[in-house]
Amino acid sequence: MKLSIRTRLAVFFTLVFFGVLALVLSAIALALYRELDQRADRALKIEERWLRGLIESEFAPLTLPGCKNCDSLAAELVQELNERYIYRGQFTVIYFPSLQSPRLYFGGREKNIPLLLPEDFLSRKDGFYNLEIEGRKSRVLLKQQPWGILAMGRDNQTFREVADEFVEIIHWIVGFSLLFVLAGGWIMARLAMLPVVSAAEAAEEITITNLRQRLPEYAGRDEFGVLVITLNRMIARIEEGVNRIQQFTQDAAHELRTPLTILRGELELAYQKADLSDDTRVSLQKTLDRVISMSRVVENLMLLAQSDTGSYPVQKSVFRLDEVLKEIYEDVQILAENRPIEVLLDHCEAVQFFGDKQLIYRLLLNLCDNALKYTERGCIKLKLAIAGDSVDFTISDTGIGIPEEQLPRIFDRFYRVDKSRSNSGGGSGLGLSICQWIVQAHGGSIRVESQLDRGTTIQILFPLRSTFFVPA
Ligand SMILES: Nc1ncnc2c1ncn2[C@@H]1O[C@H](COP(=O)(O)OP(=O)(O)O)[C@@H](O)[C@H]1O
Ligand SMILES: [Mg+2]
Repeated sequence: MKLSIRTRLAVFFTLVFFGVLALVLSAIALALYRELDQRADRALKIEERWLRGLIESEFAPLTLPGCKNCDSLAAELVQELNERYIYRGQFTVIYFPSLQSPRLYFGGREKNIPLLLPEDFLSRKDGFYNLEIEGRKSRVLLKQQPWGILAMGRDNQTFREVADEFVEIIHWIVGFSLLFVLAGGWIMARLAMLPVVSAAEAAEEITITNLRQRLPEYAGRDEFGVLVITLNRMIARIEEGVNRIQQFTQDAAHELRTPLTILRGELELAYQKADLSDDTRVSLQKTLDRVISMSRVVENLMLLAQSDTGSYPVQKSVFRLDEVLKEIYEDVQILAENRPIEVLLDHCEAVQFFGDKQLIYRLLLNLCDNALKYTERGCIKLKLAIAGDSVDFTISDTGIGIPEEQLPRIFDRFYRVDKSRSNSGGGSGLGLSICQWIVQAHGGSIRVESQLDRGTTIQILFPLRSTFFVPA
């Protein structure tokens, strides 16, 4: 799975933050536990020194073999231990192994301390141990003496509890700050990425026909601001290049137009001369046809180039759309006269239209021309109606149709589905490109539906605001 940059950034910074925080807080917690142990250890050491001194002076006989009065001395020692340690949460175990009968004395917090210690605890190495005695944490010092073994314990539970609580609080703090950092990081990253998103949206809108648009520049002079400026400069260069190409096409078409017109005139004149052989006449006729269709291509090219540069002088006026359609209907009827094609004017509502009459005429003619060209037999139906808030012009035929996969391309310049499909030929693939431009120039939309070998329907919708409906 590919994560978005902002998610990746947020996750990365959260992990870094989490790592650092966890490290620092663990170090603090460890130091705290150590400090607590060390304090207990120091107290235990002092106590051990004192008790050793006491045993080696007052209770020295107990450490010697063959001790007299041992029982009363031992009772005294136990009493001493109990008195000293019972209220301080401590305990002491003294073991004299070297006597004929080894003896164990103890006193302090618990009554039966030796049983509560781990088995063979007294035979462990010297040192400090953390033990749990009757559910309470204790720090225990074990030390071999010349005369036996001394074990002293000190209740550590309260301090441990405080430290544990502290560690628990640390866990919560880390958990919550993790959430905050993740959310905060995500929001910050999102804010930082906002210009990227809006630039991407703006870039999506820019096409060859609106290269004048630019990506939104913003005040920040950060890396991204610089990128936007650079991209805008690039778009400006592309715009310039495209303009130059469009201008070139327009100029080329313009330059070709005049000689072609002259050529056509000359050919027509030559054709009218009486003293021509039949062969010459046929070849003249062919040449003339070629020149005429070439003129048409140049004318179309010129129109498209002008539409690209926005230099075509669209002259809008109010006229009756239904009358234009009727005119064309009559033309088409004449063209279809000797063919098995029925031309129908299905519906022709009276509509006042605001637009370029010549262009609209050209649009309808182009579409009818296609219908005639790509229909063998059957019918061609024309319709003009008000539908909702638009004017609907539809032309349908029962011709050869267009393969579905080609539909998206038929408006491309010079695109023809299959050059061998029409017997009359002549087309150059510019007709529908021009139709599309004319429709767009009038704020309308064009839609094609087609089924191979069944027929084609082309629907054009103009918004009603550019039209006036004339009640009959
Ligand atoms: N009414 C139609 N029936 C079938 N095919 C059509 C129709 N209109 C257009 N086409 C297909 O779309 C292609 C593009 O049309 P157009 O731009 O007018 O070029 P052309 O000069 O070939 O008429 C044509 O070559 C044709 O194959
Ligand atoms: Mg055509």
